[in-house]
Amino acid sequence: MTPHNHAKPGDYAQAVLLPGDPLRAKWIAETFFEDARLVNSVRNCLGYTGTWKGKPVSVQASGMGQPSLSIYVHELINVYGAKALIRVGTCGGLNAAVKVRDIVLAQAASTDSAIVKGRFGAFNFAPIADFSLLRAAADKADAAGLRYHAGNMLSSDIFYHENGFAGYDKLPDHGVIGVEMEAAALYTLAARFGVKALTICTMTDCLITKQEIDAEARQTSLKDMVTLALDVAVEA
Ligand code: HPA
Repeated sequence: MTPHNHAKPGDYAQAVLLPGDPLRAKWIAETFFEDARLVNSVRNCLGYTGTWKGKPVSVQASGMGQPSLSIYVHELINVYGAKALIRVGTCGGLNAAVKVRDIVLAQAASTDSAIVKGRFGAFNFAPIADFSLLRAAADKADAAGLRYHAGNMLSSDIFYHENGFAGYDKLPDHGVIGVEMEAAALYTLAARFGVKALTICTMTDCLITKQEIDAEARQTSLKDMVTLALDVAVEA
């Protein structure tokens, strides 16, 4: 038990999916898990454990942004023994070749966050996905015929950038393909504590073309993404 999580040791599986939204955690548990049971509801930041294809798996909402995710991930690893953490979320697009509905595998995560920078003094640490999870996700996405891109994600601490897109146009110039708010902290904590992590996002709004996903496509692509993440998680 922690101030943020009332689950008991053993309540989480070693593989944990991490959506930002608590209601998405509930939806994942109710839609995909067999024998789903609620293990955490502190702050309504819901966590569930069940099985997928007969293998144990959990889902825990991370909240929005790197500070919130860092609390849940730190505790999942150090209190509950999580070994493979897969964020499932949405991202904005920073490259016109990435279409809404496409899946983005965050091979690396650049960031403006002091959470990462603050650890390394003069050095720029490169937060990266676990290679075995990344390779499994790419192989399974290929096999399922999903459109996906693997590349550098921006994990920004700011959603409403004062200068809009101009605030970070150097990043797409250097091949960064999407923007979300959590992956860099997840990868940094996973590296620090020697566990595996990956971020899989559905691109929902392109900052270049202004294309936005519609409600029906959002639901279908979320299902594709969660199925992919669960298949990777239970083999991790
Ligand atoms: N910025 C940050 N996070 C996001 C975005 C965005 O534009 N779209 C979906 N998640």
